[in-house]
Amino acid sequence: MKAIIFDEFGGPDVLHEADVEIPHPGPGQVRVRVKAAGLNALDGKKRAGMVEAVFPTTFPAIPGAEVAGVVDALGEGVSDVQVGDEVLGWADTGSYAEYALATAVARKPANLSWEVAAALPVASETAERVLDELGVTAGETVLMHGASGAVGTVAVQLAIARGARVIATAGTSNQDYLTSLGATPTTYGEGLVERVRALAPDGVDAVSTWQARAPCPTPSPCAAVPSASSPSPTSVRANWASPSPPAAGTTPSSAWPPWLRTPRPER
Ligand SMILES: NC(=O)c1ccc[n+]([C@@H]2O[C@H](COP(=O)([O-])OP(=O)(O)OC[C@H]3O[C@@H](n4cnc5c(N)ncnc54)[C@H](OP(=O)(O)O)[C@@H]3O)[C@@H](O)[C@H]2O)c1
Repeated sequence: MKAIIFDEFGGPDVLHEADVEIPHPGPGQVRVRVKAAGLNALDGKKRAGMVEAVFPTTFPAIPGAEVAGVVDALGEGVSDVQVGDEVLGWADTGSYAEYALATAVARKPANLSWEVAAALPVASETAERVLDELGVTAGETVLMHGASGAVGTVAVQLAIARGARVIATAGTSNQDYLTSLGATPTTYGEGLVERVRALAPDGVDAVSTWQARAPCPTPSPCAAVPSASSPSPTSVRANWASPSPPAAGTTPSSAWPPWLRTPRPER
Protein backbone atom coordinates (compact mmCIF):
# COMPACT_ATOMS: atom_id res chain seq x y z
CA MET A 1 0.00 0.00 0.00
CA LYS A 2 1.01 3.63 -0.34
CA ALA A 3 1.82 5.48 2.87
CA ILE A 4 3.50 8.63 4.08
CA ILE A 5 6.40 7.64 6.32
CA PHE A 6 9.35 9.12 8.19
CA ASP A 7 12.65 7.42 9.04
CA GLU A 8 14.04 10.07 11.39
CA PHE A 9 12.73 12.79 13.66
CA GLY A 10 12.43 16.27 12.23
CA GLY A 11 10.22 18.78 10.47
CA PRO A 12 7.71 18.12 7.69
CA ASP A 13 10.60 17.56 5.26
CA VAL A 14 11.31 14.13 6.78
CA LEU A 15 7.95 12.90 5.46
CA HIS A 16 7.97 11.01 2.18
CA GLU A 17 5.80 8.58 0.26
CA ALA A 18 6.67 4.89 0.28
CA ASP A 19 5.29 1.45 -0.56
CA VAL A 20 4.81 -0.57 2.62
CA GLU A 21 3.15 -3.84 3.61
CA ILE A 22 -0.57 -3.78 4.30
CA PRO A 23 -0.88 -4.34 8.07
CA HIS A 24 -2.78 -7.34 9.42
CA PRO A 25 -5.04 -6.84 12.43
CA GLY A 26 -3.95 -8.50 15.64
CA PRO A 27 -6.25 -9.52 18.51
CA GLY A 28 -8.73 -6.78 19.29
CA GLN A 29 -7.83 -4.72 16.23
CA VAL A 30 -9.69 -3.88 13.06
CA ARG A 31 -8.17 -2.86 9.76
CA VAL A 32 -9.62 0.31 8.29
CA ARG A 33 -9.52 1.28 4.64
CA VAL A 34 -8.68 4.93 5.16
CA LYS A 35 -11.09 7.51 3.74
CA ALA A 36 -9.70 10.48 5.69
CA ALA A 37 -6.80 11.05 8.07
CA GLY A 38 -6.87 13.75 10.72
CA LEU A 39 -3.93 16.14 10.78
CA ASN A 40 -3.55 16.63 14.52
CA ALA A 41 -0.85 18.67 16.24
CA LEU A 42 0.04 15.43 18.01
CA ASP A 43 1.28 14.03 14.69
CA GLY A 44 3.82 16.83 14.36
CA LYS A 45 5.00 16.34 17.95
CA LYS A 46 5.50 12.62 17.32
CA ARG A 47 7.32 13.33 14.06
CA ALA A 48 9.61 15.78 15.88
CA GLY A 49 10.38 13.22 18.61
CA MET A 50 8.84 15.43 21.29
CA VAL A 51 6.56 12.84 22.87
CA GLU A 52 8.73 9.72 22.81
CA ALA A 53 8.21 9.12 26.52
CA VAL A 54 4.51 8.64 25.91
CA PHE A 55 4.36 7.51 22.28
CA PRO A 56 7.59 5.66 21.40
CA THR A 57 8.39 5.52 17.69
CA THR A 58 9.66 2.60 15.63
CA PHE A 59 11.15 3.57 12.26
CA PRO A 60 9.99 3.62 9.58
CA ALA A 61 6.91 5.24 11.08
CA ILE A 62 3.59 6.22 9.55
CA PRO A 63 2.12 9.37 11.13
CA GLY A 64 -1.54 9.95 11.79
CA ALA A 65 -3.33 9.39 15.10
CA GLU A 66 -6.81 9.93 13.71
CA VAL A 67 -8.58 7.84 11.11
CA ALA A 68 -11.97 7.58 9.47
CA GLY A 69 -12.76 4.81 7.03
CA VAL A 70 -14.37 1.46 6.33
CA VAL A 71 -13.55 -1.68 8.30
CA ASP A 72 -12.16 -4.29 5.90
CA ALA A 73 -10.71 -6.95 8.24
CA LEU A 74 -11.22 -8.05 11.84
CA GLY A 75 -8.64 -9.29 14.30
CA GLU A 76 -9.23 -12.15 16.70
CA GLY A 77 -11.86 -11.47 19.32
CA VAL A 78 -13.53 -8.52 17.61
CA SER A 79 -17.28 -9.01 17.60
CA ASP A 80 -18.86 -5.59 18.02
CA VAL A 81 -17.70 -4.22 14.64
CA GLN A 82 -18.34 -5.79 11.25
CA VAL A 83 -16.50 -5.66 7.95
CA GLY A 84 -18.06 -2.79 5.99
CA ASP A 85 -18.81 -0.65 9.03
CA GLU A 86 -17.96 3.03 8.67
CA VAL A 87 -15.89 4.06 11.67
CA LEU A 88 -13.69 6.73 13.18
CA GLY A 89 -11.03 6.23 15.79
CA TRP A 90 -7.40 6.21 16.90
CA ALA A 91 -5.02 4.65 14.36
CA ASP A 92 -2.59 2.21 15.99
CA THR A 93 -0.39 2.08 12.89
CA GLY A 94 -0.77 5.61 11.49
CA SER A 95 -3.51 6.90 9.24
CA TYR A 96 -1.45 8.62 6.52
CA ALA A 97 -1.80 5.40 4.56
CA GLU A 98 -4.28 3.43 2.50
CA TYR A 99 -4.94 1.08 5.43
CA ALA A 100 -4.53 1.46 9.19
CA LEU A 101 -5.09 -0.76 12.21
CA ALA A 102 -7.19 0.50 15.08
CA THR A 103 -8.27 -0.79 18.47
CA ALA A 104 -10.53 2.07 19.59
CA VAL A 105 -13.18 2.87 16.99
CA ALA A 106 -16.73 4.20 16.99
CA ARG A 107 -19.32 3.95 14.25
CA LYS A 108 -19.47 7.03 12.04
CA PRO A 109 -22.94 8.55 11.82
CA ALA A 110 -24.09 8.53 8.19
CA ASN A 111 -24.54 12.30 8.13
CA LEU A 112 -20.97 13.00 9.26
CA SER A 113 -18.46 13.63 6.48
CA TRP A 114 -15.26 11.60 6.37
CA GLU A 115 -13.22 14.75 6.90
CA VAL A 116 -15.10 15.83 10.01
CA ALA A 117 -15.08 12.27 11.34
CA ALA A 118 -11.30 12.11 11.03
CA ALA A 119 -10.94 15.38 12.94
CA LEU A 120 -12.86 14.09 15.98
CA PRO A 121 -11.01 11.24 17.71
CA VAL A 122 -8.19 12.96 19.61
CA ALA A 123 -10.05 16.11 20.61
CA SER A 124 -13.10 14.06 21.60
CA GLU A 125 -11.09 11.60 23.67
CA THR A 126 -9.41 14.54 25.38
CA ALA A 127 -12.72 16.23 26.10
CA GLU A 128 -14.33 13.09 27.45
CA ARG A 129 -11.29 12.23 29.58
CA VAL A 130 -11.23 15.70 31.13
CA LEU A 131 -14.93 15.50 31.98
CA ASP A 132 -14.40 12.05 33.49
CA GLU A 133 -11.42 13.24 35.53
CA LEU A 134 -13.50 16.12 36.78
CA GLY A 135 -16.44 13.82 37.41
CA VAL A 136 -18.88 16.22 35.79
CA THR A 137 -22.47 15.22 36.44
CA ALA A 138 -25.97 16.58 35.90
CA GLY A 139 -26.86 19.76 37.74
CA GLU A 140 -23.28 20.95 38.14
CA THR A 141 -21.74 24.14 36.81
CA VAL A 142 -18.46 23.83 34.94
CA LEU A 143 -16.14 26.67 33.98
CA MET A 144 -14.39 25.75 30.72
CA HIS A 145 -11.49 27.66 29.26
CA GLY A 146 -10.48 27.48 25.61
CA ALA A 147 -14.04 26.46 24.90
CA SER A 148 -14.29 27.61 21.28
CA GLY A 149 -11.43 25.42 20.08
CA ALA A 150 -11.26 21.82 18.94
CA VAL A 151 -11.29 20.26 22.41
CA GLY A 152 -13.61 22.85 23.89
CA THR A 153 -16.20 22.53 21.13
CA VAL A 154 -16.61 18.86 21.98
CA ALA A 155 -16.24 19.26 25.75
CA VAL A 156 -18.95 21.93 25.98
CA GLN A 157 -21.43 19.72 24.17
CA LEU A 158 -20.53 16.57 26.12
CA ALA A 159 -20.84 18.41 29.43
CA ILE A 160 -24.23 19.80 28.46
CA ALA A 161 -25.29 16.33 27.35
CA ARG A 162 -24.40 15.16 30.89
CA GLY A 163 -26.82 17.77 32.21
CA ALA A 164 -24.23 20.27 33.39
CA ARG A 165 -24.32 24.02 32.95
CA VAL A 166 -21.21 25.30 31.17
CA ILE A 167 -19.72 28.75 31.58
CA ALA A 168 -17.30 28.94 28.69
CA THR A 169 -14.49 31.34 27.86
CA ALA A 170 -13.34 32.34 24.39
CA GLY A 171 -12.43 35.44 22.42
CA THR A 172 -14.95 38.13 21.58
CA SER A 173 -15.55 36.81 18.06
CA ASN A 174 -16.56 33.38 19.41
CA GLN A 175 -19.16 34.40 22.00
CA ASP A 176 -22.10 33.65 19.69
CA TYR A 177 -20.49 30.35 18.76
CA LEU A 178 -20.32 29.34 22.43
CA THR A 179 -23.97 30.28 22.83
CA SER A 180 -24.82 28.12 19.81
CA LEU A 181 -23.13 25.18 21.56
CA GLY A 182 -25.39 25.70 24.55
CA ALA A 183 -22.87 27.36 26.86
CA THR A 184 -23.06 30.59 28.81
CA PRO A 185 -20.24 32.55 27.17
CA THR A 186 -17.77 35.01 28.57
CA THR A 187 -14.45 36.40 27.40
CA TYR A 188 -11.04 35.56 28.80
CA GLY A 189 -8.68 38.28 30.00
CA GLU A 190 -8.93 41.05 32.53
CA GLY A 191 -12.04 40.94 34.71
CA LEU A 192 -12.57 37.23 34.19
CA VAL A 193 -13.05 36.51 37.89
CA GLU A 194 -15.72 39.17 38.22
CA ARG A 195 -17.52 38.02 35.10
CA VAL A 196 -17.58 34.42 36.24
CA ARG A 197 -18.69 35.45 39.72
CA ALA A 198 -21.59 37.36 38.19
CA LEU A 199 -22.58 34.41 36.03
CA ALA A 200 -22.28 31.89 38.86
CA PRO A 201 -22.96 33.66 42.17
CA ASP A 202 -23.18 30.31 43.95
CA GLY A 203 -19.85 29.15 42.56
CA VAL A 204 -18.75 26.56 40.06
CA ASP A 205 -18.24 22.87 40.68
CA ALA A 206 -15.36 22.25 38.33
CA VAL A 207 -12.87 24.13 36.20
CA SER A 208 -11.17 22.79 33.12
CA THR A 209 -8.47 24.20 30.94
CA TRP A 210 -6.50 22.57 28.16
CA GLN A 211 -5.27 25.93 26.99
CA ALA A 212 -1.70 26.47 28.07
CA ARG A 213 -1.89 30.17 27.25
CA ALA A 214 -4.92 30.92 29.40
CA PRO A 215 -4.10 34.16 31.25
CA CYS A 216 -5.31 33.28 34.72
CA PRO A 217 -5.20 36.14 37.21
CA THR A 218 -3.87 35.57 40.71
CA PRO A 219 -5.71 34.56 42.80
CA SER A 220 -7.11 32.58 39.98
CA PRO A 221 -10.25 30.68 39.13
CA CYS A 222 -8.20 28.37 37.00
CA ALA A 223 -5.03 27.71 38.97
CA ALA A 224 -4.24 24.42 37.38
CA VAL A 225 -3.06 21.27 39.06
CA PRO A 226 -1.81 18.86 36.40
CA SER A 227 -3.12 15.40 36.79
CA ALA A 228 -0.31 12.92 37.49
CA SER A 229 -1.51 10.58 34.79
CA SER A 230 -2.21 13.29 32.27
CA PRO A 231 -0.11 16.40 32.72
CA SER A 232 -1.40 17.92 29.48
CA PRO A 233 -4.07 18.98 28.95
CA THR A 234 -4.65 20.12 32.49
CA SER A 235 -7.86 19.37 34.26
CA VAL A 236 -8.67 20.44 37.77
CA ARG A 237 -11.44 19.73 40.18
CA ALA A 238 -12.84 22.96 41.52
CA ASN A 239 -11.66 22.01 44.97
CA TRP A 240 -8.10 22.02 43.67
CA ALA A 241 -8.34 25.44 42.16
CA SER A 242 -6.78 27.72 44.71
CA PRO A 243 -3.88 30.15 44.81
CA SER A 244 -1.89 27.47 46.64
CA PRO A 245 -3.28 24.14 45.49
CA PRO A 246 -3.63 21.77 48.42
CA ALA A 247 -2.60 18.17 48.21
CA ALA A 248 -5.41 15.90 47.09
CA GLY A 249 -7.64 14.94 49.95
CA THR A 250 -6.84 17.90 52.21
CA THR A 251 -9.49 20.23 53.56
CA PRO A 252 -10.11 23.29 51.42
CA SER A 253 -8.79 26.54 52.76
CA SER A 254 -11.10 29.38 53.80
CA ALA A 255 -8.72 31.61 51.83
CA TRP A 256 -9.93 30.13 48.56
CA PRO A 257 -12.08 32.28 46.34
CA PRO A 258 -15.50 32.08 47.99
CA TRP A 259 -17.31 31.50 44.74
CA LEU A 260 -15.53 28.18 44.33
CA ARG A 261 -17.94 25.81 46.01
CA THR A 262 -15.93 23.15 47.77
CA PRO A 263 -15.32 20.43 48.50
CA ARG A 264 -16.84 17.69 46.49
CA PRO A 265 -16.47 14.09 47.58
CA GLU A 266 -13.69 12.18 45.87
CA ARG A 267 -14.99 9.94 43.11
N1 LIG B 1 -6.99 19.34 19.45
C1 LIG B 1 -6.65 18.21 20.09
O1 LIG B 1 -6.92 17.08 19.62
C2 LIG B 1 -5.93 18.27 21.43
C3 LIG B 1 -5.77 17.11 22.15
C4 LIG B 1 -5.12 17.14 23.40
C5 LIG B 1 -4.63 18.34 23.86
N2 LIG B 1 -4.76 19.48 23.12
C6 LIG B 1 -4.22 20.72 23.68
O2 LIG B 1 -5.32 21.47 24.15
C7 LIG B 1 -5.09 22.86 23.92
C8 LIG B 1 -6.20 23.43 23.04
O3 LIG B 1 -6.22 22.70 21.83
P1 LIG B 1 -7.32 22.99 20.72
O4 LIG B 1 -7.01 22.08 19.58
O5 LIG B 1 -8.68 22.95 21.32
O6 LIG B 1 -6.90 24.48 20.33
P2 LIG B 1 -7.66 25.54 19.44
O7 LIG B 1 -8.65 24.88 18.55
O8 LIG B 1 -6.61 26.39 18.84
O9 LIG B 1 -8.48 26.43 20.50
C9 LIG B 1 -7.80 27.30 21.38
C10 LIG B 1 -8.78 27.88 22.38
O10 LIG B 1 -8.06 28.73 23.28
C11 LIG B 1 -8.62 30.04 23.27
N3 LIG B 1 -7.55 31.01 23.43
C12 LIG B 1 -6.71 31.49 22.49
N4 LIG B 1 -5.88 32.39 23.02
C13 LIG B 1 -6.21 32.51 24.32
C14 LIG B 1 -5.71 33.30 25.39
N5 LIG B 1 -4.72 34.15 25.24
N6 LIG B 1 -6.30 33.14 26.59
C15 LIG B 1 -7.31 32.27 26.80
N7 LIG B 1 -7.82 31.49 25.81
C16 LIG B 1 -7.27 31.62 24.59
C17 LIG B 1 -9.28 30.14 21.92
O11 LIG B 1 -10.27 31.14 21.98
P3 LIG B 1 -10.54 32.14 20.76
O12 LIG B 1 -10.03 31.49 19.52
O13 LIG B 1 -12.04 32.28 20.78
O14 LIG B 1 -9.81 33.42 21.09
C18 LIG B 1 -9.86 28.74 21.75
O15 LIG B 1 -11.05 28.60 22.49
C19 LIG B 1 -3.70 22.96 23.28
O16 LIG B 1 -2.76 23.23 24.29
C20 LIG B 1 -3.49 21.59 22.68
O17 LIG B 1 -2.12 21.25 22.61
C21 LIG B 1 -5.43 19.47 21.92
